[in-house]
Amino acid sequence: MYIKELKNFENKEVTLKGWVANSRDSKGLVFIVLRDGTGVCQCVVDATKVTETEFADAKRAALETSINITGTVIKDEKQIGGYEIQVNKLSLIQVSVNYPIAKKEHGVEFLMDNRHLWLRSQRQWAIMRIRNTIIFAIHKFFQGEGFVQMDAPLFTGNAVEGTSTLFETDFYGEPAYLSQSGQLYGEAMAMAHNKIYTFGPTFRAEKSKTRRHLSEFWMIEPEMAFHDNFDNMDLIERFLRAVVTEVLNNNRNELKLIDRDVTILENILKPFPRLTYDEAVDIIKGKVDVNGVNAITNLENELESLLGKKKEILDEIKSREEKIKTPGMKKGEIGFNQAKIDKLKQELADIEEQERNIPNWLNSAKNFEYGNDFGGSDETVLTRLFDVPIMVYNWPHEVKAFYLKRDPENPRFARGVDTLAPEGYGEIVGGGERETDLNLLIEKINEHQLPMEAFEWYLDLRRYGSVPHAGFGLGLERLVTWICKLPHVRESIPFPRMYGRLKP
Ligand code: 4AD
Ligand code: MG
Repeated sequence: MYIKELKNFENKEVTLKGWVANSRDSKGLVFIVLRDGTGVCQCVVDATKVTETEFADAKRAALETSINITGTVIKDEKQIGGYEIQVNKLSLIQVSVNYPIAKKEHGVEFLMDNRHLWLRSQRQWAIMRIRNTIIFAIHKFFQGEGFVQMDAPLFTGNAVEGTSTLFETDFYGEPAYLSQSGQLYGEAMAMAHNKIYTFGPTFRAEKSKTRRHLSEFWMIEPEMAFHDNFDNMDLIERFLRAVVTEVLNNNRNELKLIDRDVTILENILKPFPRLTYDEAVDIIKGKVDVNGVNAITNLENELESLLGKKKEILDEIKSREEKIKTPGMKKGEIGFNQAKIDKLKQELADIEEQERNIPNWLNSAKNFEYGNDFGGSDETVLTRLFDVPIMVYNWPHEVKAFYLKRDPENPRFARGVDTLAPEGYGEIVGGGERETDLNLLIEKINEHQLPMEAFEWYLDLRRYGSVPHAGFGLGLERLVTWICKLPHVRESIPFPRMYGRLKP
């Protein structure tokens, strides 16, 4: 019996096994909020309806105590989940003492140190449910489109995405690297099966702390024979639309729990704007507006209005703090005001963060040099202007990977495409059409100073029945982060691995 099934058992007796997520007692009643991993529901223990021992047990069932509860299911719209249990019987499995994560605010580092427990909290629970839907939706989409899932090795002998982010390890005395991408293997598999996808962990030694970078992340990499970069973009769009739609269809409750504004997600049905690199640069530098909004002046105005808002909040905090000190103030009113003050302080912290960020974004946008790759700030400046993912294609070939196809009509550009999530999130997908010209590929491998012998097998794909082909890589955690509108990628994966974090 699971909490998510309660609706089928109205007015019936059920037995639930779970953990105490919250509890309080008053005048012969104990209210236990039970969670069982599928949902939460309030259970009311009435001293007159259970034995004395059971009532005493209910009282000592502290936060995260594991417990069996038997009771009658009563419909009650006011309750979380819409049902309440009137308890007839209960027994403790293990009493949890001094659970480290209390209701009060904890710093993120503390929560990360306790990730093994933090995962139980409602918000983290909701995020992982959404992640699960996304994973399932990814398989459903590709399998539905006739792709074959194949897996690339994780120990590899060569770099795919540049040599600077390689994790080196020892493979029976030989150096080996943890895979940064399954793509090159995916290309070989596509020549055998036409349309394939890989879905596995990838590793990048990113020696910087940003809100977008993990050292270990999951990547979905489809590769398609007989596709050019436009076919690739069509597929990316269809794919992301299908995945977000699944989340909207299956996780309304979870999205509400994490306060996600779903209107932006519902925009996924609109076509994704496609911009060339040149067009995107003009927007970042404020030369071209998007729907009447200029990237640069918009940021400048925002910065100014933040100062006004900040003053308002500071004034309100001050007046409420004075109110609390008034003699004779009722306890309830003090609590009410204190809660308001806490909320205002959180808003203030957010504003102060924006105050620090916006000047940096402005600075990097104004000084962006044509021909460079986009940095995190540039992506933020660009994508804050959109309410659907955008696709940026035709990149200067120098800034992109060696395997991307040079545009024969305009060899300054490579046929790459990045898909950037809106609301300031930035890159979630990187991909493109692959170089099929053996000589150009050899030239590129030399230019990037990669060891030719490690790529001989890859070059074979251009020697024996080479065909136009394309593919892309979606970073699972980046997608989860955007869909859930998380402040940082670390909350999008059960146990994040990133610079400075290897435990728990
Ligand atoms: O743009 P990237 O580097 O592209 C590739 O690896 C290609 N070989 C993919 C392909 O065409 N088959 O990485 C692809 C995506 C990024 O868009 C981003 O979503 C994610 O992988 N990603 C990361 N996610 C979290 N932490 C990191 N350090 C990431 N690096 C890349
Ligand atoms: Mg990329």
